[in-house]
Amino acid sequence: MADHTTTARVLVASNRGPVSFSSAPDGTLTLKRGGGGLVSGLSAIDDPNTVWVCAALGPADREAVGRSPQGRLDQGGFDVGGQAVRMLDIDPEVFDHAYNGVANSTLWFLHHMLYNTPTAPVFDAHAAEQWAAFETYNAAFARALAAEAAPGAAVLVQDYHLTLVPALLRELRPDLRISYFLHIPWAPADYFRLLPDALAAAVLTGVLGADRAGFHTRRWAEAFADCCEQLLDAKVDRAELSVSYQGRTTRLGVHALGADADFLRERSHRADVDERLAALRAAVGGRRTIVRVDRTELSKNIVRGLQAYRHLLRSRPEWRERVVHIAFAYPSRQDLAEYRDYTAAVRRISQEITEEFATDSWQPLILQVEDDFARSLAAYRLADVALVNPIRDGMNLVAKEVPVVSDAGCALVLSREAGAHAELAQDALSINPYDVVGTAEALHQALTMPPAERRERTERLAAAATALSPQQWFLAQLAELSA
Ligand code: G6P
Repeated sequence: MADHTTTARVLVASNRGPVSFSSAPDGTLTLKRGGGGLVSGLSAIDDPNTVWVCAALGPADREAVGRSPQGRLDQGGFDVGGQAVRMLDIDPEVFDHAYNGVANSTLWFLHHMLYNTPTAPVFDAHAAEQWAAFETYNAAFARALAAEAAPGAAVLVQDYHLTLVPALLRELRPDLRISYFLHIPWAPADYFRLLPDALAAAVLTGVLGADRAGFHTRRWAEAFADCCEQLLDAKVDRAELSVSYQGRTTRLGVHALGADADFLRERSHRADVDERLAALRAAVGGRRTIVRVDRTELSKNIVRGLQAYRHLLRSRPEWRERVVHIAFAYPSRQDLAEYRDYTAAVRRISQEITEEFATDSWQPLILQVEDDFARSLAAYRLADVALVNPIRDGMNLVAKEVPVVSDAGCALVLSREAGAHAELAQDALSINPYDVVGTAEALHQALTMPPAERRERTERLAAAATALSPQQWFLAQLAELSA
């Protein structure tokens, strides 16, 4: 162990780190800073002895790791934004099996209940190989954290990719205070049992290695506790929200990550957003707007959202020529065939809607698939209606961001299966994400909501959506670890 390695008092671990790299043909590396709740959350602490451990996601990241002593990008001359970053160069095949094979194709599908069960999942020899890689990948994180952490340090492990880390790390460093936070839903016990018993137990005991396990909603925390009770025979205290297993107790916490109000309000009034807003206004031509902004993930239910819009135009022809659906569906995880097929399905139905309804004077649908954050904010400002209809979602920050940014108030059509629904249900129009006819009806109600009511609801939604800023969310978890 090198001597820099035992000084960190606060450590964060996540698959995707705060920075990523791209490389030019001449070998020059360009660093890009990411956003998101964790990045702004972490900005709340100004302890210089903070280390973020993450994985290299591609060849340029690996190159940057190669130029940094022990993968410490901050010591490799890269400006990573204040805190120290240790990026792990995990063997590309191991990484692929762990990230694409297990995290995104198994755990993601399990917790979002996305399997088409007559054909999937299949736990065969290939799946076993992927699982072994997942163990190797998690062990690499545990080792790096163990090497960086000062005695008694607080370690905040993030998300489903690193589900085995808490237990592995505890074994290496019993002195550490460890928390785990899951950003996605937790599957109900009957669905979780799709996993082979040994894998199911490894996932559960992996998390139980933590002192604290955090979730966005009570629903996901309880689903986790149910799984521990039913599959491990662990003792669950529902009042306390804790799970005791093999002599240790893990306390469960509910921390509903909120939208970053200060950042959003400032960012959404910069010139690039104003420009895009003007362009959108020109395209929409004074009509009503239904806006959705998602990464093109199967859980986001974009196809049914488009089917609902089509049903609206068919069943209520009075909306033809009077409304435009702005759908931003940004690329995600295109290494996976299911995601590529899903993206193609989104394009197909969009094309069908345009063919069925477009006239010389009206484009019923604007579909954009290139990621553009400023344009998303412009659409948030403009939206009369926001459609957020995931099949299942840990939280869904779009539902929380739109009311904060909206210029004149926006009616929110929100899936009851999104974590955000727990806080926003009162002022949103709730839908069952599978019910296309019901979703179309909710869109109609949203479009006809009186402007004053819309404004009032939006104000209350914005207040609920910002109740726990990313900074407070992060500090709350840290404080719980010290309690
Ligand atoms: C979604 C989930 C996060 C997760 C992320 C990973 O945003 O809500 O919980 O960490 O996906 O995305 P990635 O692009 O890194 O696969």
